[in-house]
Amino acid sequence: MIRAKIVGLGAYAPKRVLTNKALEKMVETSDQWIVRRTGVRERRIAEEGEATSDLAIRAAQQALERAGAEPREVDFIIVGTTTGDMAFPTTANLVQHRLGCRTAGSADVYAACTGSIYSLSIGAQYVQTGKYRTVLAIGAETLSRITDFTDRGTCILLADAAGAAVLRPSDDTAGILDTDLYSDGQYWELLYQPAGGSRNPATHETVDKRMHYAKMKGNEVFKVAVRMFVECVGRILERNGLKADDINLFIPHQANLRIIEAAAKRVGLPMERVFVNVDRYGNTGAASVYVALEEAWSMGRVKPGDLLLLAAFGGGFTWGAALIRW
Ligand code: UT7
Repeated sequence: MIRAKIVGLGAYAPKRVLTNKALEKMVETSDQWIVRRTGVRERRIAEEGEATSDLAIRAAQQALERAGAEPREVDFIIVGTTTGDMAFPTTANLVQHRLGCRTAGSADVYAACTGSIYSLSIGAQYVQTGKYRTVLAIGAETLSRITDFTDRGTCILLADAAGAAVLRPSDDTAGILDTDLYSDGQYWELLYQPAGGSRNPATHETVDKRMHYAKMKGNEVFKVAVRMFVECVGRILERNGLKADDINLFIPHQANLRIIEAAAKRVGLPMERVFVNVDRYGNTGAASVYVALEEAWSMGRVKPGDLLLLAAFGGGFTWGAALIRW
């Protein structure tokens, strides 16, 4: 089988910074509490009028430039997002048009924060089967748009950003070695957006009841998330005959530093080999793993030949992992 390889990475975060100090003025919280319980110090928030596709396009342009690929060469676009510009058309559709891609196929994948691993995995399948030569896989969110800034359980975490990867057939040993995707709908009520879909279409009442904002049982999410991280990392390592020691860099979904530390400890990975940027970006949903991977690469923490392990979890629940030889 052909191996899919990341040949270009891009990332974009809105310019506007929201610090913990600024949040202190909005809800009953403190910088100290947020740092101690989450590791987040600041996050980026989209400007008014700045939508998910605007962030996605910037990340995608950078990824294409770095790949030396033209928009017209893109055969398929997949965007992981839970905060698309509109209910429809898809954000991928808007990206296709505004990037100047030809009328290539495009689709959004709704897998909450695991949208990063889902989009990467789905995009890679098309390259691996030989169906497409150039796939643009993107994770993009404006989670601030579904954040209740009177709810201190969520507004301290959620934020906006986009990341992108250009996938092409590999001509060497580098590439995406394996991916795993999981879901279990029994946990849907731990993290969801009640209104705006067919169950509770938007009405004055749903807006008055703040049902268009994300609701989260943070404490319960925390426990399930650690277990899922550990399970999926263990399985992908085992199937590929690898041990935690073989991994050069673990790039987890940036949800909460304590979740990352707990998972890394149980998996047996020292924090020196775990990439963390949750302190500066907060939880950017489907963008998070892409943004972290791009930053790790830009900082020189990802070198040719390195074995990378990516993993994420999110509402639904969804979770998954990817193994990459760089
Ligand atoms: O991508 C997946 C998305 N979600 C996640 O990954 C979220 C996972 N969960 C978490 O990150 C954490 O559960 C939170 C950061 C949301 C909350 O942290 P926690 O350590 O689980 O706190 P808690 O909910 O157990 O609350 C402990 C205390 C409570 O006060 P009492 O009852 O002990 O007096 C809360 O009311 O902290 C209080 N509290 C806060 N205090 C200051 C909760 N949120 C805040 C806050 N500032 N923002």
